[in-house]
Amino acid sequence: MTTSDNSESLSYDTFSASLQRSKELEADLQKNPQNHRVLTGDRPTGDLHIGHFFGSLQNRVRLANMGVETFIVIADYQVLTDREVFDQIAEYTLNLAVDYIAAGLNPDSGNVFIFPHSAVPELNQLLLPFLNLVSIAELERNPTVKEEIEASKMTRINAGMFTYPVHQAADILFCKATAVPVGKDQLPHIEMTRTVARRFNAKYSSDKPVFPEPQGLLSKAPTILGLDGSKKMSKSRNNTIPLKATEDETAKIIKKAVTDPERLITYEPERRPQVANLLEIASYATGRTPEEIAQEIGDGGAGKLKAYLTDSINTYLKPLRTKRAELTGNMDYVRASLDKGIQRAREVGEKTLLEVREAMNMYR
Ligand code: TRP
Repeated sequence: MTTSDNSESLSYDTFSASLQRSKELEADLQKNPQNHRVLTGDRPTGDLHIGHFFGSLQNRVRLANMGVETFIVIADYQVLTDREVFDQIAEYTLNLAVDYIAAGLNPDSGNVFIFPHSAVPELNQLLLPFLNLVSIAELERNPTVKEEIEASKMTRINAGMFTYPVHQAADILFCKATAVPVGKDQLPHIEMTRTVARRFNAKYSSDKPVFPEPQGLLSKAPTILGLDGSKKMSKSRNNTIPLKATEDETAKIIKKAVTDPERLITYEPERRPQVANLLEIASYATGRTPEEIAQEIGDGGAGKLKAYLTDSINTYLKPLRTKRAELTGNMDYVRASLDKGIQRAREVGEKTLLEVREAMNMYR
C-alpha cells in the first residue's frame, strides 16, 4: 500500500495560470474533440436569462456541436446550501432542462447528457472518499464560498455550504471530465477539483492515475450588467431578461432599463456603462458592433435605443422561444431526455466508482 501524499496546500490564487491553461485547452478541443469530455452545469433556482445565454449556454452548444461528449449537471443538491426551495425543486429542474434544450443542447444528438445530480448515487458516493482529501482550513479559505456566505446573510451556516465544492469535484470527476466551461467565480472550485484528483491519484493509484486533472474553460463573453445598472444580471436582483419572456414582456422590461440623461447615444463603456451595456446586448443579438449601432441611433436617444434592443432580442430569441413553447407542451419528451441523461451518467459513474473502490482496497 502506498502512503505517499501530495501535501502541497491548495492555492486559490491562480487566475493567470487558469487563463493560460484555458487557452491551450480551447486549442486542443478544436483539434481533438474526441479526446475530451465536457462537464458543466447550474443550480436549478429559476429561469435562465440572456446573461446565461450569451455568457455560457452558447459556448456549451458550440462545444457540443463540435462533437465533444457533454455532460450537463443540474445541481439540485447544491441549491440546499443557501435556500429553502425544496418544494419547487423538481419544477425548477424540469424548467432548467427546458431552457437547455430550447437553447440548442440536443439530447437526441447522442453526445449531450443532462441530469440532476441527486439522481446519480454513484456520483454522490464519491463525496465520501473525497472529503478526506481536503482540510477544513482549505474549505474555509474558498473565496467564492466566503462571498456566498456573506451575500446570503445566514447566521447559521450549514456544513453543506463549506463542503459543496468537494461535491462539485465529484460532479466533475465522476465522468472524468477534462474541460469544465465556467465563469471566473467557479475557478476556486476547479482548483479544488484538481487538488482532489491529484491527491487521490498520489495516495491511492500512483501507478495508474484514476482521475485526469480537469481544467476550466473560460468563455470569451464578458459579464452582462443588470438592466438596473447594477454589476451583474441576476434573477435575485430582478434585473434580467428571462429567455422565456414574451415579446411584450421583453419590451416592458427593456423600457424600464436604467440609462443616463444624455440624448446622443455613444458607445463609451467606462463613462456610460448602462448605455454601453444595452448596446453590447444588441450587438450580441445582431452580430453588429456596438459602435455601429450607437452611430445609427445617434440623437434618437434612449427611447430609440431601447426600441432597437427590444426588436433585436425578440428577433434573435424567436426560434428559441418557439422551441421552448413546443417543449413545455411536451414535457414527456423533456422527462425522457433527463432519464436518458441519468442513465448515461449512472453507467459512467458506476465504472468510476468501481475503479475508486478498487484503488482504495475496499471490500468487493
Ligand atoms: N456551482 C455552479 C453554480 O453555482 C453549479 C455547478 C454545480 C457546477 N456543479 C458543477 C458548474 C460542476 C460546473 C461544474 O453555477
